[in-house]
Amino acid sequence: MSLRVLIPPDELAAGVARVAAEISATSEDGVVLVGLLKGSVPFLADLIRRLTVNPIVDFLALSSYAPDTGRVRIVKDIELDILDRDVIVVEDIVDTGLTLTWLRRELAGRRPRSIRACALLDKAARRIVPTPLEYRGFEIGDDFVIGYGLDFAQRYRDLDRVLAADLKVLKADPDAYVPELYVR
Ligand code: IMP
Ligand code: MG
Repeated sequence: MSLRVLIPPDELAAGVARVAAEISATSEDGVVLVGLLKGSVPFLADLIRRLTVNPIVDFLALSSYAPDTGRVRIVKDIELDILDRDVIVVEDIVDTGLTLTWLRRELAGRRPRSIRACALLDKAARRIVPTPLEYRGFEIGDDFVIGYGLDFAQRYRDLDRVLAADLKVLKADPDAYVPELYVR
């Protein structure tokens, strides 16, 4: 299977604008957006420029001990004290739900006033652990996706669109799609 554009740039922009309007309508100035590095970066950058409330932005990076186990650890923590703050975790994609479940519990222990989650993409059919997702850009099927922050082996995050890729092709050669995606 080759590549297929799943969400082109104009649809991404419309989805981001819709989520920004939803967050703005339900949040106050000072809402804390916690972006998960690195996949959320393009989404978060576009999102904060569409908000009509003033957010505080911080970042957190997780590393998984073993993929698909939900056993993760924080490799870069947020700098902000979130006690009594309204917090929104911003994710690129929720797949099994294990990461978000773990992170919500971890952040809840710091006694924020509220904690919500926002993801650009939701692979709802793949969920292992049900987890609340208050804001979401798009529900997608069971495809492996790249672009607009999403990577395979750190490639393809810079693409301006979301594409469905063949995971077998990528596992055999992480650079397999470079020639057709990047004009040199
Ligand atoms: P979860 O814990 O299974 O919900 O996984 C969430 C993380 O897995 C995301 O933050 C992504 O880093 C990664 N992930 C899940 N599906 C995809 C995909 O289709 N493309 C790229 N990364 C993905
Ligand atoms: Mg990733």
